[in-house]
Amino acid sequence: MSTSNFDQFTGESLQAASGYLPDVELLTRLANEFFTALPNAAIASNSNAPSSAATPELDIPAFPADHPHVENFVSQSDIPLPFETELNALLAPINEISAALSGTAHAAGAPSPAAATFPPPLEIPVFPANFSSAVTPLPLSAIPLPFEDELRALFTPAQKASHAHASAPASSNSGSSFYFLDSIASPVTRAPLPAFAAAHPPFDVNAIRRDFPILKELVHGRPLIWLDNAATTQKPQSVIDRLSYFYQHENSNIHRAAHELAARATDAYEDARKKVGHFLNAPSADEIVFVRGTTEGINLVAQSWGRQHIHEGDEIVITWLEHHANIVPWQQLCTEKGAKLRVAPVDDHGQILLDEYQKLLNSRTKLVAFSQVSNALGTITPAQQMIAMAHRVGARVLLDGAQSVSHMRIDVQQLDCDWFVFSGHKVFAPTGIGALFGKAELLNSMSPWQGGGNMIQDVTFEKTTYHAAPARFEAGTGNIADAVGLGAAIDYVQRIGLENISCYEHQLLVYATRGLSTIPGLRLIGTAAEKAGVLSFVLKGFSSEEVGAALNREGIAVRSGHHCAQPILRRFGLETTVRPSLALYNTCADIDFLIAALHRIQSGRVSF
Ligand code: ALA
Repeated sequence: MSTSNFDQFTGESLQAASGYLPDVELLTRLANEFFTALPNAAIASNSNAPSSAATPELDIPAFPADHPHVENFVSQSDIPLPFETELNALLAPINEISAALSGTAHAAGAPSPAAATFPPPLEIPVFPANFSSAVTPLPLSAIPLPFEDELRALFTPAQKASHAHASAPASSNSGSSFYFLDSIASPVTRAPLPAFAAAHPPFDVNAIRRDFPILKELVHGRPLIWLDNAATTQKPQSVIDRLSYFYQHENSNIHRAAHELAARATDAYEDARKKVGHFLNAPSADEIVFVRGTTEGINLVAQSWGRQHIHEGDEIVITWLEHHANIVPWQQLCTEKGAKLRVAPVDDHGQILLDEYQKLLNSRTKLVAFSQVSNALGTITPAQQMIAMAHRVGARVLLDGAQSVSHMRIDVQQLDCDWFVFSGHKVFAPTGIGALFGKAELLNSMSPWQGGGNMIQDVTFEKTTYHAAPARFEAGTGNIADAVGLGAAIDYVQRIGLENISCYEHQLLVYATRGLSTIPGLRLIGTAAEKAGVLSFVLKGFSSEEVGAALNREGIAVRSGHHCAQPILRRFGLETTVRPSLALYNTCADIDFLIAALHRIQSGRVSF
């Protein structure tokens, strides 16, 4: 391999060469170029083949050790792998599951495109020991593994079995529930619904990355490293294709009886509702209301149920962890009604103090609203326990799932929450669409909060009667296409398996936590034993904005600021943090780049 063609180095080849994301197309092209460039290639090949004179020059990208973005990366075989043993130990459960899955598929006689490659090759990215010449990383033995026990607990034998069952390779997705696609002979020839790519092995991060076209983007000449997933997630091609298909073949308002496209659009929209229902394990799709996102879902409950049921002297309990969207609507309601907002505190790790929470609950508590995962700290709250505690005093519970839906399986029946809200864009779906789950009897007892078309049974000037839920809460023309896109995003994560995603992300979180702990002056904010996907920190001597901007110049996207959660940051004496946040397509290599960049910033090798 030549190492002299640095000038020809493209972002694409950088990714491939770094082992960061082997690109099959690129590798194929390079291999073809290599073989056709061999001196005897023209003779050895078919005589009808084009002359080798037309063959482009061999261009196998080198991995430049002196590239500014990867200054401390050297050939993989030369790099000591400080965390390899630990990482392999952490990955062992996935390999076991892969093997179990392989067995399941064979036993069932199910054709599995992945069966031949079980166990799937797991990428063990490299954490370069020499990533900063200026800093001596802490010895491994000095770095605690806060999540090791939890990780092991995730894989009790019973869970392994149910995991294997839940993640068994799905059969073909070709069966459409869009009845017009199957049963109506349209005079217009339409392309088939965008099909999913063949099922992934249980977890193959490189295959997953190829599903997200934006991850090939260059930012400031560097491959994009998207670590702002708590703000929004990127979209897989299947979601992009589904939106495009909708607008090419189905677009209409949803009034089924009018014409064929109306029926197609209605089917697509209602099919998406069913998918959301299954995703949350709701008893019925009628318990799923489409909203713009988490914020609108919470406001709906506050304005509808809240205005009906909250009275003077009543109490609403939230927690210190809440996003502004789960504070302000309740504050407004309390002000309007003369009710009291009470806040459950957290400890210095960012964990809810359950004893203090218990003390806040009493017969005046009419509602408890809290997040399943904190957007600012990543804390996973003990939701099921907190919901049960609230129910014991007769309170209703709204669970904010904005930051949990992409990281863990949600089961609203097991949680027993009264409402659950989430935003589609945090789970690989478009912006402007989300869902509110509500228990059926509750939704149907709630007054509509907005009036208009679609939500009425009958209107006279004297009186209007309303549809049952969910239609009563969907006045006007909804975000039809994006709801359909949300359905496609749910298909996507279901196909990979939420348990696989949780497990993989957990390992990334452990890896990143360790990496961050090697940076002098870095203070991690939020060190709960149960965390998901978020690594908030401050770096001594630098503002959060400076760190965010410096990372941006390296193509690394993180959020820096107050994360719409000012109270919890102030609980830690801060106004802002830097917040890298993880999703299923991030890799240890992403973390390595982040850590290396932070070392450069910390050691003053980055000018501001
Ligand atoms: N709620 C989003 C965040 O945490 C916007 O960044």
